[in-house]
Amino acid sequence: PRVAVLISGRGSNMMSLIEAAAAPDFPAEIAVVISNRPDAHGLARAQACNIPTRTVDHKAHADRAAFDAALDAVLVEEQADLVCLAGFMRLLTAPFVEKWAGRMINIHPALLPSFKGLHTHERALAEGVRIHGCTVHFVTPEMDVGPILMQAAVPVLDADTPETLGARVLAQEHVIYPAALRMVADGRARLEAGRVVLDEFV
Ligand code: GRF
Repeated sequence: PRVAVLISGRGSNMMSLIEAAAAPDFPAEIAVVISNRPDAHGLARAQACNIPTRTVDHKAHADRAAFDAALDAVLVEEQADLVCLAGFMRLLTAPFVEKWAGRMINIHPALLPSFKGLHTHERALAEGVRIHGCTVHFVTPEMDVGPILMQAAVPVLDADTPETLGARVLAQEHVIYPAALRMVADGRARLEAGRVVLDEFV
């Protein structure tokens, strides 16, 4: 399958997908990187890896529906089969999400269903949780709620700041996002009737 990676910023998760997909046995190709911000640092990083890039500037569209229609048109033009949200900081409309249901995944920097939304590391520290982590899930219309594909946990240490904790989580994001994409791309993980079905590991 052809994968489109959607970004808004630095693109470290995007890089982990590009690097994993460079392996000869990886079951998917990173066909295009799309940013909603023309100045996203990740665009230059993708170009340096010879991955085609596109920008769909949300500021150039009147509303979310118009932006999502433009985004969908680019995905169709690029013949994307799967979509990976990787630090993509726009809410997507329900019709767009429903069109890509079962074919669009996201990485979230917390152990869902805890800490949906922003500033997850600050909030984890404020709550005093001892375990934190990250989640790859199928995207559904409600933000950070979709069926869970894969998670990784990290310890929270007494000396942690949001930065040190965030770095520990990010290192795990870079492990599980390519692993989850591999499973979706080769069909071992699927969304069926709103639930994740995982084939036996062989
Ligand atoms: C990551 O923490 C990801 O989980 C969240 O946004 C951040 C993006 O970082 N959705 P990067 O652009 O992949 O470096």
